[in-house]
Amino acid sequence: MNLLAFGDVCGEAGLRIACGKLRALKKYYGADVCVINGENADVLGIKPEQARRLFEGGADIVTLGNHVWNRLQIKNELEENRFLLRPHNLSPRAPGAGYVRLPLNSGRRLVIVCLVGRLECVWNADSPFHTLETLMREYGEDVFAVDFHAEATSEKAALAHCFDGRAAAVFGTHTHVQTSDERVLPGGTGFITDLGMTGPRYSVLGVKVEQSVSTFLGDVPSRYESPDTEAVMEGAVFAIDEVSGKCTGVERIRVEE
Ligand SMILES: [Fe+2]
Ligand SMILES: [Fe+2]
Repeated sequence: MNLLAFGDVCGEAGLRIACGKLRALKKYYGADVCVINGENADVLGIKPEQARRLFEGGADIVTLGNHVWNRLQIKNELEENRFLLRPHNLSPRAPGAGYVRLPLNSGRRLVIVCLVGRLECVWNADSPFHTLETLMREYGEDVFAVDFHAEATSEKAALAHCFDGRAAAVFGTHTHVQTSDERVLPGGTGFITDLGMTGPRYSVLGVKVEQSVSTFLGDVPSRYESPDTEAVMEGAVFAIDEVSGKCTGVERIRVEE
């Protein structure tokens, strides 16, 4: 099976390119399932109508991250839509779910898990390592694919290596910068440190350039906006052997408008 994954959707430009291209990309890559991180659809957070747009555009799973509660309207949507995932290692008091199990042709199940990092990201999250270990013990026969939404490249690489051979795919999100280190680890886990961004190319990580520069210069902060300009869509495709649960190849994707 082929799993497509795309980096954080930023603003209207990100929503437009994702909804315009997802179906064609799924067809082109022969994708069985498509995961996209939507935590910046409303720049900081995502509104329910924006999540629905991504599903209508072809996303099978929409993952979130550290900005999950920046738009509190998403709470009900998280409770109602099991394909919309918040990080699984948030407090057990958090609404919604952090993983979903999908049936595969082989009879096995594919578990898509969303996890968040703790280094310079969500300090009060549970350990992503122990959380994933617990989930794997519960669903030991399943095939696992993990969106690890984290700032530190070290935390992402360490998690991928820790579960090498037990997760079919580990892809990082959150930095909005695509890394060129996609590879299959020795045990058979397909890994990329960060998928990149689905959003406006001329921006600072999806935020208006002038606004970001002015923040760094020390001006009074303003509510972040995302420029609705030419967009780029970055991600990766993982070829996964359903029977062995291992990755046989990973390829980086970058599509421009
Ligand atoms: Fe993030
Ligand atoms: Fe993000």
